[in-house]
Amino acid sequence: IAQKLSFDVQLSDHARTAAEREQVMANPVFGKVFTDHMISIDFTEGRGWHDARLMPYGPLALEPATAVFHYGQEIFEGLKAYRQSGGSVVTFRPYANAARFNRSAVRLAMPELPEETFVESLELLVQTEREWVPMPEGHSLYLRPFMIATQPGLGVNYPSKTYKYMVIASPAASYFAGGIKPVSVWLSTEYTRAAPGGTGEAKCGGNYAAAFVAQRQAVEQGCDQVVWLDAQEHRHVEEMGGMNLFFVFGDKLVTPALTGSLLAGITRDSILTLAGELGLEVEERLVSVDEWEAGCASGELTEVFACGTAAIVTPVGSVKGADRSWTIGDGSPGEVTMRVREELIGIQYGTRPDPHNWVHKI
Ligand code: COI
Repeated sequence: IAQKLSFDVQLSDHARTAAEREQVMANPVFGKVFTDHMISIDFTEGRGWHDARLMPYGPLALEPATAVFHYGQEIFEGLKAYRQSGGSVVTFRPYANAARFNRSAVRLAMPELPEETFVESLELLVQTEREWVPMPEGHSLYLRPFMIATQPGLGVNYPSKTYKYMVIASPAASYFAGGIKPVSVWLSTEYTRAAPGGTGEAKCGGNYAAAFVAQRQAVEQGCDQVVWLDAQEHRHVEEMGGMNLFFVFGDKLVTPALTGSLLAGITRDSILTLAGELGLEVEERLVSVDEWEAGCASGELTEVFACGTAAIVTPVGSVKGADRSWTIGDGSPGEVTMRVREELIGIQYGTRPDPHNWVHKI
């Protein structure tokens, strides 16, 4: 029987003043400044989850031999708290993040955290940091739950027996500095993000560590973001940087099927669910680079956008690969892209109805 954890609350003596907070929130750069408190819960094999705390944000002391530093046993989530027009503070589908966190935990041989505890930890942190939830539409408090393996030791025959779950929070404006300017993408054929049976479906730090070299190459090629292709043939599209992709064929949305090597985005799932209400058909299937290029040439493929929690819905304007490059539509944000984006933002900020009960009041 899962016992309910009660959180020990220790408030910071050094919490920033309203003026200091306002200064950060006037121009919040994604993931740069963190709020005054954090959540920490420990796990020990045989004992379960214990020592649930809300405490002042600050450094951790860990032995250099701690497992996470050597073998990268780490998973994370990302979601946001929004200040709605009526003044309430809400999160979006937090149980979906809780469920995905546990799927990632299983893949990385880590313990699952009860979904209720995951959501409670977010509620406690957001309640405490309510003043850090920005007002303007498009701004939010980004929440970063994560878990690390904390047992010291270099053995690789068994996973760690101890873990720490934490949540930190950071006020955020738009993720991309250019706002909703379309991004240019680089098709990576030299590197692969994930292979069948690998960790592509898990939200683990290692996937992102292995992506930096390709993202750097994209920038060297004059592009904003990398697009990952399948591991075997580099023929089918998987995802863009840390975001899922949608291809717009008139009034049909096509998105790469969840083959096991791409992340099951919660924004992706929300768009698939909302599409019908927006008068759009949806299809999850393989999409090849050849189809992408040919569709743009014939005009059947009218728009492409990327989606994720951090950048919401971002238009893709142009594509470059080792031996080809092309523009999508006229390279400017498309009508369907903007309709999907506004619908999602409307639900999150409370200016549109929420028929699926996705909004979770804090
Ligand atoms: C997303 O929210 O789209 C992400 O993948 C977050 C990113 C900062 C890792």
